[in-house]
Amino acid sequence: MKRVAILISGGGSNMIRLVEDMQGDHPGRAVLVASNDPAAAGLGKAAAMGVPTASVDHRAFKGDREGFEAALLQPLLDARPDIICLAGFMRILTPGFVQRFAGRMINIHPSLLPKYPGLHTHARAIEAGDAEAGATVHEVTPDLDSGPMLGQVRVPVLPGDTSEALAARVLVQEHRLYPAVLRRYAAGDRSPVLLTATELHPGI
Ligand code: GAR
Repeated sequence: MKRVAILISGGGSNMIRLVEDMQGDHPGRAVLVASNDPAAAGLGKAAAMGVPTASVDHRAFKGDREGFEAALLQPLLDARPDIICLAGFMRILTPGFVQRFAGRMINIHPSLLPKYPGLHTHARAIEAGDAEAGATVHEVTPDLDSGPMLGQVRVPVLPGDTSEALAARVLVQEHRLYPAVLRRYAAGDRSPVLLTATELHPGI
């Protein structure tokens, strides 16, 4: 059984789907949900599901990224995770922190990587006139949003889409993708999960 820690910054809807999925014959179990924001709504939701939580307020470290990460490391090491899932965790991690968990930390990013690493992914896809957007789960490496791909879901961009509407449509599909990837990953299978949101294509 793989011990899984999940890092969040906000509502934690992906985290909830991961925790919900980790039952029965699943090869992983959630051992910790941690956040850089003590007010993150996801912390209470994790606690309500019986998962231990921790928070380290990054604002207390004022630009001292290593200090923040040293504080975050403590509850993480205590939880002895085999796998760390970043699920809407909005802090950039230093290469030292990433290397400490090399090969066992994964992230979900709301774009079809390698397109649009970083922020404002949906607005950038709409602005570029892309026909498709989506989300990618990848291994975390020191370079932002560029580790090996473990899964991807493609979602149509519809006429008149706003970034909010597109983000909501992609998020629904993130909730399918991330649990599917974690199931494989926790079982030691790195082959990519490739999904298409066909039900959103009118007429298909
Ligand atoms: C998700 O859309 C996730 O892909 C994105 O934040 C959202 C978190 O939602 N992550 C990033 O942008 C990471 N760079 P959630 O808190 O409801 O899971």
